[in-house]
Order: sequence, then C-alpha cells, then structure tokens
Amino acid sequence: MKQLSKILVAILLLSNTLLSAQNRSEAEIDHKIDSLLALMTLEEKVGQLTLFTSDWDVTGPTIRANYKNDIQSGRCGNIFNAHTAKYNRELQRIAVEETRMKIPLLFGYDVIHGYKTIFPIPLGEAASWDLAAIEKGSRIAAIEATAAGLHWTFAPMVDIARDPRWGRIMEGAGEDPYLGSLIAVARVRGFQGDDISANNTMLACVKHFAAYGAAQAGRDYHTVDMSERMLRDQYLSPYKAAIDAGAYTVMTSFNEYDGVPATGNSFLLRDILRDEWGFKGFVVTDYTSINEMIPHGIVANEKEAGELSLNAGVDMDMQGAVYYNYLKELLKENRINMVQIDQSVRYILRTKYLLGLFDDPYRYSDEARQQRLLLAPEHQEAARDVARKSIVLLKNDKNTLPLSKSVKTLAVIGPLADNKTELKAAWSGAGEDQHSVSLLTGLKDKLGNGVKINHAQGCDFEGTDKSGFKAAIDLAKKSDVVIVAVGERASMSGEAASRAHITLPGVQSDLIKELVATGKPVVVVLMNGRPLAIPEIDAIAPAILETWFLGTQAGPAIADVLFGDYNPSGKLPVTFPRNEGQIPIHYNMKNTGRPMDPNNKYTSKYLDSPNTPLYPFGYGLSYTTFTYSDIKVNKEVFTPREELKINVTVSNTGKRDGEEVVQLYVRDLVGSVTRPVKELKGFQKMMLKAGESKEVTFTLTANDLKFYNRQMNFTYEPGDFELFIGTNSADTKSRKVKLVE
Ligand code: NOJ
Repeated sequence: MKQLSKILVAILLLSNTLLSAQNRSEAEIDHKIDSLLALMTLEEKVGQLTLFTSDWDVTGPTIRANYKNDIQSGRCGNIFNAHTAKYNRELQRIAVEETRMKIPLLFGYDVIHGYKTIFPIPLGEAASWDLAAIEKGSRIAAIEATAAGLHWTFAPMVDIARDPRWGRIMEGAGEDPYLGSLIAVARVRGFQGDDISANNTMLACVKHFAAYGAAQAGRDYHTVDMSERMLRDQYLSPYKAAIDAGAYTVMTSFNEYDGVPATGNSFLLRDILRDEWGFKGFVVTDYTSINEMIPHGIVANEKEAGELSLNAGVDMDMQGAVYYNYLKELLKENRINMVQIDQSVRYILRTKYLLGLFDDPYRYSDEARQQRLLLAPEHQEAARDVARKSIVLLKNDKNTLPLSKSVKTLAVIGPLADNKTELKAAWSGAGEDQHSVSLLTGLKDKLGNGVKINHAQGCDFEGTDKSGFKAAIDLAKKSDVVIVAVGERASMSGEAASRAHITLPGVQSDLIKELVATGKPVVVVLMNGRPLAIPEIDAIAPAILETWFLGTQAGPAIADVLFGDYNPSGKLPVTFPRNEGQIPIHYNMKNTGRPMDPNNKYTSKYLDSPNTPLYPFGYGLSYTTFTYSDIKVNKEVFTPREELKINVTVSNTGKRDGEEVVQLYVRDLVGSVTRPVKELKGFQKMMLKAGESKEVTFTLTANDLKFYNRQMNFTYEPGDFELFIGTNSADTKSRKVKLVE
C-alpha cells in the first residue's frame, strides 16, 4: 500500500509540472488537489493548516523549537520568519525531497514597508495620497522579498485607526475608509502584481480582520466594542476593497467583535467574508490567536479553541499548534468534520499551485537574483521619490522654508539628526541600519563643502538629561539656520507599542524651546509613527515638517524638501489632536444633537480644550499657495440614473510650481440613521505651475452616497446633500444638491 501511494505521488507530481500554474484552469487545479487530498493522511492535511515560525524573528514566544522535524514529517506545511534565498531553499528541499507527499512549503514574512530597501511607514506613505507611488512601493517590496525566498507577506494592514495612542496606527493608512480602501487596493496590486504565478509577485494578506484598529483606549490587543452599523459603515470597506482587488489571504485579529474573539467569530469569517464577499483564498490566524481565546474567556482549553476556530472558518493556525495537537481528536469526537478540513487544505493548496510552487518549488530561492535585486539603485530612487511625497509641511511662517542653498552655516540638532537606526521604523523586514541615509548625511550630500554643517545631539529621546543642551545652543547661535530633528524611537510605535501620552517624549520639547529662544530660524523635523500632540511646538516653531519614518532614503528625501528641490505635497491621512483628552478625534464624526456653540454652555465641548484638532485630516501646506473657486455642478437636482458633475477651479497663486490634493467631501443632511458631518468621496492630486489654474471635475452618482440604512441595507436615500471641496477637511467651500427618485 505504502509503495503504491509513493508511485501515485510520483505520477501526480510529474503531471503537475506539465502545466504552468498560469495556464491552469480552476477545474484542473481542483482535480490536482482532489488527487492530493485522496492520498494525504490526516496528519499531512493538518500540516497544511499549520504555520510555524522559524527561529529568526518572532513577535511572540516561539513555542515549537523543532520545526524542521515537523516539516520533514509533513506536519508543518508553512513557515514564517524564514528568509533569504539560501535558507529557504534548504527548508524547501526538506519539504519537497524528504516528505512523503512532497508538497512545497509556503514562506510568509512581515514585509510591511519594504524588504531590504525600506519605504516610508504605511501611515507616512498614505500621506502622499499618491496611489501609483504607493503601489510601486509594495511592488518593489515584493520584488525584493520574492528574490529572498518569500511567497507571502502579512500586509497590507488596512485597519482603520482613529486613536493615535495605538502604536499600530503606523502600519495602516489612517482614519478614513475611502482613502484607506484605495490604498488597500494599491498595496494588494503592488504585492500581487497582475500575475501571481510570476516569480516576483507574492500573496498579500489583508489584516487584521476585523476592527483591530478600534482597540479601546488605543491599548494594543485590547477589547473592541462596536455596533454592527459602525463596523459596516466605517471599518469594513478597506478589507472588502482589498479582497475585491484579489487578495489571496486574510489574517484574523486579536480582538473580539461583539463578544467573540475574531479568530472564533463565524459572523466575521463565514457570514461576511465567505458568504457576503465570496472570499476564495485562505484565512490565517494572527500569532497564537487561537490559543488566546482561553484568556479571552470564550473557551476553557486549547481543544475547545481549535474547535471554535475551525468551525468559525479559520484555515491556518499561526504558531499556536492547536490544529496540530487537537484536530485529530476533535475529528474523532465528531466536533469538527473532514469536509471542513479538506476545504481548508484545498484553499491553501490552491494558492501553492497558483504561485507555481508545484512546478518549481525553488523558483523564489535564487541567490543570483537576490544579489542583483536587493537594494537595486532603481529601488533607492523609488524609495526617495515616495519618501519626499510622504512629507507633510505642517507650518511655515514667513516662508521659513525652503532654505536657501547659499546659507553659510547650518546647525543640525536632535536625537534624530544623525540617526540611522530609527529611520527604518517598526516592521522593517530585512532592512539594515547601514543602508539608511541619515538626515545629516542627506544634508551633507546635498550641500557639499559650501555650507558649514554643525551637529549636536542636544538630548536623547527619553529621560530628563539636559546636559547636551548647552553645546546644541552654542552651535545654534553660531549658525544661520537651525534644523532640529525630534520625535519617537522606532520602538515607540508598531505592535505592542501604545502610548498613553502622545507628546514628544523626554526633554525634546524643552530643547526646541531653547533653540527657538536663540532667535535663529528653527525648522522642526518630526519623525514618528503616529500623530503627536504638539501644540506648544506649533505655537513657537516657525516651520514644522512631519516626516514620519521615511525608511532607507529618509535623509536625502528630507534634504530635498528642506532645500526646495521638492515642494511638499503630503496631506495628513489622520487627524492630529491637540491633546490626548480629545481622542478619539477624526474628521468624519457625527454632528450630535447639540453641536458645539461657543456661546452655549450646554453644547458638545470641553471646558479645557477646543474641539478642533491641531491639524485636521487632509491638511498639509506647500511652498506655494492655492486658491479654490466656488463649486459648480451640472445640476442642482439629480436622480439615481444621472451623474452629478462637480467642478472647481484651483489656482496656484504662489511663485513656485506645486502639487495640490484637491479633496471632495459629502454630507448626507438627513438620513434614516445619522450620518457623519463629512465623508471623503474623491480626491485628485495634481501639479500646477506657478500662476496656473486648472479645472477639476469630480463625478458622483447615487451609488457613491450609499450607506447602511436603518434596516442595515446598503443603499442611498433621496434628499439633500452638502458638497465640500477644499485643501483639507476643515478648509472647504460648499454647496448643496438634492437627490430625487
Ligand atoms: C503579530 C502581528 O499582529 C501580525 O500583524 C503579524 O503579521 C504577526 N505577528 C506575524 O509576525
């Protein structure tokens, strides 16, 4: 019998190689999978549902030390945190040469904003509002990662995040469902390309399903409690958009939804993901999130946890070994069934076929390709391009910026001035400090010997030590201009990196105050993974640049902006509050029954803080100025069968060429349920030469006005709408239109 099955496996594998994955129809793939399933033992099937980490990088305890034995016995079909062509080739060799079924391994890794060439953090890249540049960033990440043996990235994270205390806000596209959905699509396209069987494209993984960004009080892994209406209206659309764009995999989230952890939540995983959205890929858990259903208090032990998650629709167990340990028993006890197991195996084998792994399991492990592609010059160029586009000019009094290249002496101060380590930020793949270009180096490269650059750190990120202030202030006094680079450490955002206070840590604000007190022009360069509350800096610093963490090419990109070789065009994808007490604060809030009225105490406001943010969603200045005409529409009253054309003329009224992101917002004035005060419905990023005017046209139909009505149907409702167009969510022109049946 054993001999016979060996022969059958050999025949099957041979026949697999005759057709390339690309040319195979779904029916053929199904047929191949059927033949594999017919020969696989239960252990081997569970092996395909099992994902173990190698001992490289982990985000939790490594609970299985001997993963290589598990590969060899067919009990682990997928590995993460293993990379480089050579290392993965060896693991793959064990799978395809030493196991009975010879099924190739799938290799996953957190390639979040680059593999070796590190791009800006996703929140920063989102500030570019440049979908093509964002797609390119993910494309290059995939080109490098696939050359280093990887097939699958745990990205994009598309969780809507309205709480800047949450460290993982750096990994997503910010607070808005519309912008977030478009960016989700761009990232999926970038990773997956248009042919998943090509050896330089990789599976995307949409995460974390669902609503992980709504962790209470911004504390990572905390409870989420939200209505189904809020879930559908504000949180789900980026996941859906990513799945509609063809994302092959979805990761569950650590949080609960409606009292049930997402990893055991059949409403999310079956009703919405499979039944409503028709998702055909596979669902993986987050790191040990099946096991974590025990402390959640929804199951008493791991066996029950495995039962709950398999029945809820989880296909692959990341690192928890719960499927590995308990599916067999659960099956014997009829608590789960073989049809479910086979279905999950089927989803996973299908992706392996589509990737072409059955044709050539080593196609992603080519050392020569890896050598050629990692850090390729064109990747550096693209990283610098999107880094410049991600920078947001928050303040620029009296045209402090751009600086003149004829400046004689420059003081470059601050803990981030000559720092390479932090620029890569959290989730920096295989990025290495040595490849990052610091701000100081970027400035020196740009300015050459003509400008004397004085550098002092001034202070550290944290602590109360001000002993470095004096040297920094002395340098500032001797210089024409002061650039002070301050912010967070990379480890202050990302996973398990929430902050209760989102001000500049340590004594950095004091350093800025003292530098400003010298009377020299001071430019604050912020580097951080979240919105910071910096009203006291905004009050005194003449110029502020938000540069997030820009990755490998941070230094040159910031230098380009500081000296006017690039005119900043970034716009905030997330609101910057004045203080933590305002959180959650986002532009698309509800009006309430008592909207803020400064003359009426009994309206919705604080005694000790304005309601308005420090910098609103969509905000960002340029070195030039733009004016907007009044809004014109092709009809005041339109029907669901008609298109509403909305026009505005935008003029560059300054002296420099510059790009503007023209933003369209809508408010549904009366609904069967209340609607946000503004919702982004369109934007166009355009270049305008100095003095140039352009007419911008947006087209809306009734479909764009849909929302979940009282009966939870996704529909539009006739009535009055207010349109807003402007340079950010707070500074807009408006006019009304009416939708009639
Ligand atoms: C835990 C994180 O939540 C998730 O985003 C990541 O992909 C996994 N760890 C794997 O590293």
